[in-house]
Amino acid sequence: MKYDLKNFTIDEKIKLLSGKTYWTTGDADGKVRELWLCDGPHGLRKRVNDATVPATAMPCLVNLANSWDRESVRLSAQTIADDCIENDVDVLLAPGVNIKRTPLCGRNYEYFSEDPFLAGELAIQFINGAQDSGVGTSLKHYCMNNRDFERLFQSNEADERTMREIYLKPFEMAVKNSKPTTVMCAYNLVNGILASENKWILTDILRDDWGFEGLVVSDWSAVKNAYKSLIAGVDLEMPSNQPSYQVLKDALDKGLITEELIDLHAQRVLDLIEKCDKNKESRKAKFTPSQRHENAVKVAGEGIVLLKNDGILPIKSGEIMVTGMEVNKPAIGAFGSAMVTSSYKLKNLCDVLNEQGVQANFKEYIIHREERSSIFAGGAYDSAFETDAVIICVKGPDEGEGGDRVRIKLHDYQEDFILNMAKANPNVVVCVYAGCAIDMSAWIDKVKGVIFVGLAGEGVHEALAPIIAGNLCPSGKLSETFPLCVEDTPSGTKLGNGYVDFYEEGLFVGYRYYDRFSKPVLFPFGFGLSYANFTYSNLKVEKQSETDYIVSYDITNNSDIDAKEISQIYVRDVLARVVRPYKELKGFSKDLIKAGETKRVSVKLDKSAFAFYSIPLKDWHVESGNFEIMVGASSQDIRLSAKIKIQMPDHTQSSFHYVAYPDYNLTKFGWKKGEVPDEPYKPFE
Ligand code: GLC
Repeated sequence: MKYDLKNFTIDEKIKLLSGKTYWTTGDADGKVRELWLCDGPHGLRKRVNDATVPATAMPCLVNLANSWDRESVRLSAQTIADDCIENDVDVLLAPGVNIKRTPLCGRNYEYFSEDPFLAGELAIQFINGAQDSGVGTSLKHYCMNNRDFERLFQSNEADERTMREIYLKPFEMAVKNSKPTTVMCAYNLVNGILASENKWILTDILRDDWGFEGLVVSDWSAVKNAYKSLIAGVDLEMPSNQPSYQVLKDALDKGLITEELIDLHAQRVLDLIEKCDKNKESRKAKFTPSQRHENAVKVAGEGIVLLKNDGILPIKSGEIMVTGMEVNKPAIGAFGSAMVTSSYKLKNLCDVLNEQGVQANFKEYIIHREERSSIFAGGAYDSAFETDAVIICVKGPDEGEGGDRVRIKLHDYQEDFILNMAKANPNVVVCVYAGCAIDMSAWIDKVKGVIFVGLAGEGVHEALAPIIAGNLCPSGKLSETFPLCVEDTPSGTKLGNGYVDFYEEGLFVGYRYYDRFSKPVLFPFGFGLSYANFTYSNLKVEKQSETDYIVSYDITNNSDIDAKEISQIYVRDVLARVVRPYKELKGFSKDLIKAGETKRVSVKLDKSAFAFYSIPLKDWHVESGNFEIMVGASSQDIRLSAKIKIQMPDHTQSSFHYVAYPDYNLTKFGWKKGEVPDEPYKPFE
């Protein structure tokens, strides 16, 4: 139904600008339908009468990201959309695309990656998956909500280039490529101004630069002053907030805002209602409830990451002891608004392992509290001593909304238990259930296998067991660096002081940081093992235009099992007149390659693969010069590379650019006069 603002009084228009209830939008005194806005990224969380409606608990975004699989991300969103459709929900408050700046952030399990390109690409798929099913989305939390410590008060500060190239980039990619129904503004301040009152991000960048035409909704209670938020660009304050009506009325009477401004925002609310009404007429669920569970299992299987395998996996025979608190009650998500109440009875890992049809006898050993770190109490040691191998299932440190992690190591008793079991049995496999990087350095050398399970939803064990038993080849890779210790991360153990968190590492977040400072890590960004092994060959870089290329290469599966491989494209600007990360992810592909098969993979690169954000030019800028295209199995396992030379029109280039002065005295950097250097150039070395 089309709504015309002329049919609404000023009072009714003001009432459209904030919710009617905690989860529904205003109805302008009954003139329009209330819309339901519900969480979340891992499944529907619809609260009715203080209870949460049961829904399919899909893998968390950490697992979607570790899948690097566009199709899995779409499927997850489509599956969640079905629960929304069956529960009359109009907008799903997801996905979260905040950058994983620190592994201490409690909500990292709800975000995709440390890399903006990976986060942006997967957000596009999530949004398309939900919206193509007729359910709106909310791209969040805009912006720089990179930890939950003092999230309501702290100002997160970074220079504009860092913001544009890192923290805003996933939002820009999603807005430009998938047109999310809504964007949710964050709680925190951005460079000193509340995100909900920050016209620079909400209007100048989001709308004027990126062309966003949807609706800006506040995070819940993120609006501190209704008319200041309206002026900045918030269209809809959630949840309902009675005082806001009078604040807006008074501001209108004082001339602080105009009726035209109220109309602008009220129209966007009406547009959203019209869009949701239209969706409602035609949308219907794609999957049955049991198919949704199958989807949960399928998606979980794509995002589990094999981190270490000294030949112990897959386990196909022997007497195997399975132990740990997660065996029977696995962590499938974490605390906060992204929680899902699943009615599915989670499977015991041991039971599913025994169903896998392998010769092994998997026997669950219930750990009692006092046994956790004593190798002699209660027989844990004896049992481990007598079996052929031990599988230990451990949960990472507490994480979730409203509370950042206080550590990235497992708890002492967990580490002790692993070390004691490793003393009792040389064949230990550790399965880690966590939403973010874990410092495993205390015990990883003592065990033979490590699987990063993530927080993989209700189907977790129906995905994990086939991997352990060898019936499913692991194909996930890390979407964030696992550091050797939290002190090695760009922001270390610093939280900010409750007022300001200054992103002093600038562009150098995640692998960009470890590259720049040549810091060793436990597992690099993009790392994950397979039961198969792959070789890469025949790289070809075909020029389509000065900034458009097709990168193609062969991947051969040298094993006797079908398997999937995630190949990654990194681009290096060999010599720039600004500081740049050594290399940046600009493409990736996940491909099923059958046993013994060679598959040709191709990835397109466009201008965004080469450009950086120029502050003086206020735009993305490609400098003429040499670039290196790298194809990697991980960010630290580059298999192929090729150099290209980009020659942009001279009028687009700043005068004092090294190509303009090929004889500029490069010798001072030790390079031969007249030759453009081929080695990595670190101007601030
Ligand atoms: C929460 C979260 C946001 C969620 C919203 C509604 O505080 O920050 O992610 O969608 O409120 O629950």
